[in-house]
Amino acid sequence: KIHAVITGVGGYVPDYVLNNEELSRMVDTSDEWIMTRVGIKERHILTEEGLGTSYMARKAAKQLLKKTGVDPDTIDALIVTTTTPDYKFPSTASIVLGKLGLKNAFAFDLEAACCGFLYSLDVAATMIESGRYKKIIVIGADKMSSLVDYTDRATCVLFGDGAGAVLVEATEEENVGVQNSFLRTDGIGLPFLHMKAGGSVCPPSHFTVDHRLHYLYQEGRTVFRYAVTDMGNDVEEVLKRNEMTTEDVNWVIPHEANLRIIEAVAKRINLPLEKVVVNIQRYGNTSAATIPLALWDHERHLKKGDNVIFTAFGAGFVHGASYYKW
Ligand code: ACO
Repeated sequence: KIHAVITGVGGYVPDYVLNNEELSRMVDTSDEWIMTRVGIKERHILTEEGLGTSYMARKAAKQLLKKTGVDPDTIDALIVTTTTPDYKFPSTASIVLGKLGLKNAFAFDLEAACCGFLYSLDVAATMIESGRYKKIIVIGADKMSSLVDYTDRATCVLFGDGAGAVLVEATEEENVGVQNSFLRTDGIGLPFLHMKAGGSVCPPSHFTVDHRLHYLYQEGRTVFRYAVTDMGNDVEEVLKRNEMTTEDVNWVIPHEANLRIIEAVAKRINLPLEKVVVNIQRYGNTSAATIPLALWDHERHLKKGDNVIFTAFGAGFVHGASYYKW
């Protein structure tokens, strides 16, 4: 049987750091409020005009190619998962592929909000396990600053920009790589987390701009509740399917939405916080990029054979967990 393994990780965050002090001068908030409620100290923001998600995605992928030394001509496919594509069309993946100069690959975007990396990794693994593809680059990238209202204190403190990339390759080695996943979409999330305008229901117009409908909207408390319940249940389900308990887990790498959500999930499933990878203090919520960026930060601590659980939750609602053997 062919297995899918991650053979390299790359990452990129923009240079500009927006910290809580600067935010406190923009809206009525404070470092104390933000640290207590969400646990974020700073986030990186792509401030250069004319640069979008593909810029960060390309940077992360370039680093990945350099680190792994893989020949770009051997890449079969490129998946970019993002909620903030450069354009409505063409796909951000096609732009990134062009910039990377991949000659023998096809590329597509996969949109699953903050769960995008989890879904994409599973899609890439399934493609590889089928035997038809051998090397796939998966990039989670989001320029959340492009849809955040920096006059709304309830949302602007949460998000940042960044990109993380992994190379997924085929191996015949037993008992390594993506083991299995429990992925779900429940379809009830629209009223609670969305961006009203810009799509086919409500295309951009002077009206949508005047009424400030091009910003992320959320009912924070509802999102919080579902996120904790779903991620907690999903991790338990994956553990059950693999006849494991939290004792067998070396690391949980969760979507970094909010430190309180992460702590509540850990408490719900009785998981010691020392096993949870957290970097939200420095990056904020970078949506599809949080898990690959956490992997990028944490890679040096992972040992062969470690049992790693990924879990995420996002708009839709989309959620799930997967079990990866490092
Ligand atoms: N600074 C100071 N006060 C604030 C701020 C701020 N940045 N933001 C909100 N407040 C105020 C509110 O105005 C409100 O004041 P009021 O009582 O005078 O009306 C008060 O704080 C309490 O507001 P709540 O919204 O009830 O605060 P809550 O404790 O729920 O925290 C938060 C809000 C942090 C958004 C929380 O609901 C949350 O984390 N939700 C999850 C949202 C999330 O992570 N979304 C990301 C996208 S989805 C995903 O990635 C999983």
